[in-house]
Amino acid sequence: MPETVTIVEVGPRDGLQNEQQTVSVETKAELVERLANAGLTSVEAGAFVSPKWVPQMAASDEVMAKIKRRDGVSYPVLTPNTKGYEAAKAVNADTIAIFGAASESFSKKNINATIEESLERFRPVAEAAKADGIKVRGYVSCVLGCPYEGKVALDSVVRVSKALYEMGCYEISLGDTIGVGTAGEARAMVRAVADAVPVTALAGHYHDTYGQALANIYASLEEGVRTFDSSVSGLGGCPYAPGASGNVATEDVVYMLEKSGFATGADLDALVETSLWISERLGRAPASKVTLARRAKRTP
Ligand code: HMG
Ligand code: MG
Repeated sequence: MPETVTIVEVGPRDGLQNEQQTVSVETKAELVERLANAGLTSVEAGAFVSPKWVPQMAASDEVMAKIKRRDGVSYPVLTPNTKGYEAAKAVNADTIAIFGAASESFSKKNINATIEESLERFRPVAEAAKADGIKVRGYVSCVLGCPYEGKVALDSVVRVSKALYEMGCYEISLGDTIGVGTAGEARAMVRAVADAVPVTALAGHYHDTYGQALANIYASLEEGVRTFDSSVSGLGGCPYAPGASGNVATEDVVYMLEKSGFATGADLDALVETSLWISERLGRAPASKVTLARRAKRTP
């Protein structure tokens, strides 16, 4: 039996949060449904953040209300504070994500709090979710570099990851927010964090700005990580990380993993279809190499 690797699809959130154009609730909900129908078991569906900070995520409550949820699929949403948590709970979110950073400057720019303040802010959110039976995921941004500070100390990545894990997060997603890290750096970072948090509770979240994401995933796989975040068609970026491009494309990750002997449960053809569909809706070419290759084969 091939070993399973879990994919957390973040396109509808990490991807669409960075769109200049307004994407309708219907399109967002259809995207989430198509991704779940393609066999993905975790599809991040939105963010309950300030609409002044990230207007693209403003209608996340409507998206959550609209999607037909599938059994066995979770639909995480981002919640930076208690206000966001209450909104997520009101739409019956099954999983929330609190999101911190290993860099002080990024933390300030992204959520208007120092790292310490952010951890204090997350604590009551994690406690409330635990009491309500809602799962909590934790993100750490800037694990391989920061758009404002450059190099980020591994100590800080480890400290924030450990703090979120001890707060009750079932999984810590390690974010190369601006996609600058390399396989060697990803390996060293995962090793350092795995000394403080079980490697089975770690996920890799690699943006592909410098084309390093698949290599970083493979290096992390070799260190024992079995969960990776990705975004269909390579959508996305982060509104508070200038120059960052999208997450690694889900189709490319699935192609690499399946052909390397892992099972993802995802239907590559359905992902390619979804990638072409959302790219057309957004009026751009897919960023996924696999989707581009498949599309080229189809046209004479
Ligand atoms: P603040 O301005 O310090 O917050 O922002 P505040 O508490 O002073 O409130 C200001 C206003 O926002 C108030 O409204 C609040 O009610 C409202 P007003 O009285 O002015 O009308 N507000 C909210 N509204 C809706 N939902 C809420 C909420 N909270 C306050 N939850 C805050 C602090 C955290 C709210 C803000 O900085 C924020 O929303 N930041 C989110 C930024 C964001 O979403 N970034 C992208 C996601 S992170 C990411 O992409 C990285 C990741 O992918 C991993 C990686 O790649 O590294 C996860
Ligand atoms: Mg991200």
